[in-house]
Amino acid sequence: MDSLSPHRHLSLSHLLLFLLLLASSNLLTFFLFSSHSTSCPSSLQTPSISLSSSPPPNPSLPSEFLAFTSPQPLPFGHNHNFDSATLHPPVGLPCPLFPSDLAAFLSYPVNGSCPDDELLAQKLLLRGCEPLPRRRCRPAAPPHPSPPLPFPLSLWSLPPDNSVHWSAYSCKSFACLVARKHSKSFDDCKDCFDLDGREKHRWVTPSSNPLDFTIDQVLADASPPGSIRIGLDIGGGAGSFAVRMKERNVTIVTTSMNLNGPFNSFVAARGVVPLYISISQRLPFFDNTLDIVHSMHVLSNWIPTTLLHFILFDVYRVLRPGGLFWLDHFFFVEDQMEEYVPVIESVGFRKVRWEVGRKLDRGPELGEMYISALLEKPLNNSW
Ligand SMILES: *[C@@H]1O[C@H](CO)[C@@H](O)[C@H](O)[C@H]1NC(C)=O
Ligand SMILES: *[C@@H]1O[C@H](CO)[C@@H](O)[C@H](O)[C@H]1NC(C)=O
Repeated sequence: MDSLSPHRHLSLSHLLLFLLLLASSNLLTFFLFSSHSTSCPSSLQTPSISLSSSPPPNPSLPSEFLAFTSPQPLPFGHNHNFDSATLHPPVGLPCPLFPSDLAAFLSYPVNGSCPDDELLAQKLLLRGCEPLPRRRCRPAAPPHPSPPLPFPLSLWSLPPDNSVHWSAYSCKSFACLVARKHSKSFDDCKDCFDLDGREKHRWVTPSSNPLDFTIDQVLADASPPGSIRIGLDIGGGAGSFAVRMKERNVTIVTTSMNLNGPFNSFVAARGVVPLYISISQRLPFFDNTLDIVHSMHVLSNWIPTTLLHFILFDVYRVLRPGGLFWLDHFFFVEDQMEEYVPVIESVGFRKVRWEVGRKLDRGPELGEMYISALLEKPLNNSW
C-alpha cells in the first residue's frame, strides 16, 4: 500500500451510527467484538449506493453475501495501485443464480462454526459459483487430528484416518477408499487411493503402449536438461504425479475436486500442494511462469468445446516460453476427431510427441479414442 493517510479513528457518534445501521444484521456480533480496533474495519461499512456507481445490492441476498461483496471503501482513500478508492471483493458471477444453496452456505453465526456443508459448497462451486464467497466461520474439521507423517514416508503412505473430516464422502476411512477399486459402482479415480496398485506404476514403469509417456522421457525431452522445476497438474486426483515429480526435485501443484473422496486432504497429507479450483477457473498463475503443465483424463470431451478452447489458451498463457504441456490421455470418440484436433492445434504449441490411439477398455465398438501429446510453447511465440 503506497497511499498513506492518518488513521481514521471512530468517533462516538460514528460508533452509534454504525451500531444503529448494523443492529438488524449478524454483523453486529462481529462489530461488538472488534470495537477495540482503532481503525475502521472496512468490512463494517454499510452497503450504500452513494459509495460507488455499482447497482444497488439485491436485498434478498444473504446478509453475509452482501457484507462480503458490497463495495468497501479503502480506509486510506484512493489507492494508486487499485486506481480506485473502493474494493469489490469477488465471487463467481453465477452465485446468485442459486439462491437457496447460497443462503444455506452463508447461514452461520459470525465467529462461530460453519455449517458442515462440503458437498453443498462443492456443488455451488462446480455450477460456477467460483470463487465461493469467503465466510467468517470455522470449517468442520476432524476432532482429534494426527500430525502429518514426515518425508519421505508421507509420499507413499496412507495418512491416518483422523487427518480427514469424512462427512461429505460415502467412505469414512482410507481402508474403505482403497477397497473401492473392487467395487462395481462408478467413482471418480476409484483406484487412486490404493498406493500399492496402479498408482505405483503410473508415469514411471515404461509400457508398450505409445500413449503412456514416462516422466523420465518427458523430462529428457526438455531442453536444456534440468529446466523443468515448477508446474501444475490439472485434475491430479490423489497427487501421485506431483509425488513422482517431487522425487525428481520438481515442484508440482495439483488441482483436484473432492468428488466423493478426500482428494485435497490426501494430496496434502502426502506432502504435496493441493489447489481446490475447478477447470472453469482461470489458473491462478502469472503469464509465462510455469515449466510444465500436465493433465491426465480430466481435459476430455465432457468439457464444452468453447470452455476447452479457453482452458488450452490459459495453459499456454501460464507456461513459460519453452515450457511443456503434457496432455495425457485426452479422451473422445472417433467422430469427434475433426472437432478436437483443430481446437488443440489452434493454440500454437509445437508438437514434441503426438500419439493417437484407441481406448479399448470398454470394447472397440464404442469407437473411443485417446490423444497423448507433449506440446511445447514456442520460445519465440506469436505474441
Ligand atoms: C470468537 O470465537 C472464539 C472461539 O470460539 C472465541 O474464543 C472468541 O472469544 C470469539 N471472539 C469474539 C470476539 O467473540
Ligand atoms: C534432489 O535434490 C537433492 C538436494 O539438492 C539432491 O541431493 C538429490 O540428488 C536430488 N535428486 C534428484 C533425483 O535429482
